[in-house]
Amino acid sequence: MTNPTIRPRRLRTTPAMRRLVAETRLHPAELILPMFVREGATEPVPIGSMPGVVQHSMDSLVRAAEEAVTAGIGGVMLFGVPETRDAIGSQATDPDGVLNAATRRLADEFGGDLVVQTDLCLDEFTDHGHCGVLDARGNVDNDATLERYAEMALAQAHAGSSILGLSGMMDGQVAVVREALDAAGFIDTAVLAYAAKYASAFYGPFREAVDSQLAGDRRTYQQDPANRREGLREATLDLAEGADIVMVKPAMSYLDVLSDVAEISDIPVWAYQISGEYAMIEAAAANGWINRRAAIEESVLSIRRAGADAVLTYWAIELAGWIK
Ligand code: PBG
Repeated sequence: MTNPTIRPRRLRTTPAMRRLVAETRLHPAELILPMFVREGATEPVPIGSMPGVVQHSMDSLVRAAEEAVTAGIGGVMLFGVPETRDAIGSQATDPDGVLNAATRRLADEFGGDLVVQTDLCLDEFTDHGHCGVLDARGNVDNDATLERYAEMALAQAHAGSSILGLSGMMDGQVAVVREALDAAGFIDTAVLAYAAKYASAFYGPFREAVDSQLAGDRRTYQQDPANRREGLREATLDLAEGADIVMVKPAMSYLDVLSDVAEISDIPVWAYQISGEYAMIEAAAANGWINRRAAIEESVLSIRRAGADAVLTYWAIELAGWIK
C-alpha cells in the first residue's frame, strides 16, 4: 500500500479552493483590443478569416470603442486600411490619413477614458506591402525607413495617440522615434516596442484584415522562429533605446521568448495574440472540436502565466465580459 504524504491534489478539491490558490488571474484592464478602420467604409466589413472581427467604418469604430470603455479593458490598438497606397506610404503621415483621422476621433471622443494606441508601421500604407521603404535593389532600407517612422510618430502623436506600437522591426527604431517625439515636445507619448517579433505564418489572416499588398515575406527584418536568444537581444536593445513597454509577438508559439523577456525587463511586458492564433481557435470551435470559451480563457491565461503583464487579443471585449 502506498500512502503519499505529499498530495498536490489537496489544493484542487473544490472550485473555491482552486480559485484561492490560482497563481494567475485575468482582469479586463490587462486586455487590449486591436481594431481595424477602413477608409471610405460606411458599414463594417467582415474579415473572412477572422470570424467576428471587422474592418470598421469610422462610426462603427466609435461604437466599438464605447463598448471597450464599458467593458473596462486596458485600451485599443488601431490599424488603418487606406484606399490608396504608394511606395513610401504617404497616407501614414498625412494628418487626414485614415489611421490618423481615426486616432483623432477616438482621442477627442473618449479623452482619458480610453488608452488609444496606434500601430506604427508602413506595411498597411505601402503599395509593395513591406514595413519600410525600398532601396534601388528592392530591399527594405533600414535607415531611410527610420526617417519615415519619425514622421509617422509625430503624425500619430499629434492625432492624440497615447502609445505608439513600433511593429516594423527596423534597427534603431525606438531611439529614433523617442528622439523625434521629445524634440517636438511629445514627452508623454509612450513607445511600445515590438521587441521580439518573429516572421510568422500565423500573421496570415492579418494580411486579409489590412488588404495587404505583400508578395514574398518579411524575413530580412522580422526574426527567425528558430532563434530564442535573439529575442532577448532585441528586447535588451529596445530597453536601452528607451522603450516604455516591450512586446513579444506572436504569443502562443513564443512563450519561451516571452518568459525570457519578462525575466530581464524592468518595464511592462506585453504579448500579442495574433490573427492566426485567433483564427485557429475560432475554426476549431466552429467545428465543435474544442470548447470555445474554455480555449480562449486558457490561451490568454497561459500567455499571462508565461510573463505577459497585458495581452493584445481580438477577444478582449468578450473575454472581459466573462472574467469581470
Ligand atoms: C505590422 C503588423 C502586423 C501585425 C501587427 N502589426 C503584420 C506583420 O508583421 O506581418 C499582425 C497582427 C496579427 O496578425 O494579428 N504592421
